[in-house]
Amino acid sequence: MNIESMEPEARAAIEAADSIAALEDLRISWLGRKGRITGVLRTLGQLPPEDRKSVGQKANSVREAVEQLLTERTDHLKRAEADVALATEKVDVTLPGRRPTLGGEHLITRVNREIAEVFLGLGYEIADGPEVELDYFNFTALNTPPGHPARSTQDTFYVEGGDDLLLRTHTSPVQIRVMKERKPPLYVISPGRVFRRDTPDPSHMPVFHQVEGFAVDKGLTFADLRGTLEFFVHQIFGEKRRTRFRPHFFAFTEPSAEIDVSCHACDGKGCRFCGQEGWLEILGAGVIDPNVLREVGFDPEEYSGIAFGCGVERIAALKYGVDDIRNFLDSDMRFLEQFWRVS
Ligand code: PHE
Repeated sequence: MNIESMEPEARAAIEAADSIAALEDLRISWLGRKGRITGVLRTLGQLPPEDRKSVGQKANSVREAVEQLLTERTDHLKRAEADVALATEKVDVTLPGRRPTLGGEHLITRVNREIAEVFLGLGYEIADGPEVELDYFNFTALNTPPGHPARSTQDTFYVEGGDDLLLRTHTSPVQIRVMKERKPPLYVISPGRVFRRDTPDPSHMPVFHQVEGFAVDKGLTFADLRGTLEFFVHQIFGEKRRTRFRPHFFAFTEPSAEIDVSCHACDGKGCRFCGQEGWLEILGAGVIDPNVLREVGFDPEEYSGIAFGCGVERIAALKYGVDDIRNFLDSDMRFLEQFWRVS
């Protein structure tokens, strides 16, 4: 076996190898336990003693040379592989990105905010109250004691187990809660969900939203109520819309009114949209009944109050031309999305 010829042979084979796997095969066949160089080193003992040293040194230097060649070739192939990967897997940074789908404000949230902004601009503040309410706050303290006929006009969900617990039928109980906690002057709105035992139809839902508003101060009159609500209607529906105050009854206000806005479709002449009325009802309101002020410990000789409440679904429907308020709860994106772009 000629040791001298081994190195060039190994070099040629290693340089010709074109994969990491092929190099590994070469490493085994030259340097492995049964490899050719290992074989030479193993048989040193059989050589005449004077040859052992020089053959051993040569074999070792060939082994080192082959190891080095394998390392170099491995590095070379790895670099070449990386170059190919860089060239084929490169990212085109000029491609437009994929837009994430952004959500939008629900129309009811938006109208709620628009209503709140009008009153915040007038110096009102926002108060909150519970949806599960005591009968006392929802009815009795609002001048509607047990047996009062006005109770039957609001079909109520009662909470099982607690005789005097119910789902609030309007946001007016927040008036009582705030007035019991604080002293006038008070200028407060309270947006929130309310519940009534109504069968769903295009203009009724068992759960809907109201914004309550009230003010208690010295010298407030029906004229303040009127000016405030006319301003409100103009802010929400535009300067051209007119308002109409109709006498009405609420147990907790006296006098009471319902407020209509002129129909946008016919401008008050009467059409199919407004049922030939020319007007669309949007608010209940009135001067706070002295009985309510007395109930919370305010002297009706010193203070007076005005109060109003509106249905958010109704205002949203009239403002944006929605003919069925059930759409607001259906969560059909095709319906909801169209209001994300309207301003
Ligand atoms: N709470 C009344 C309703 O839900 C509306 C209203 C509020 C009326 C405040 C007068 C004053 O119908």
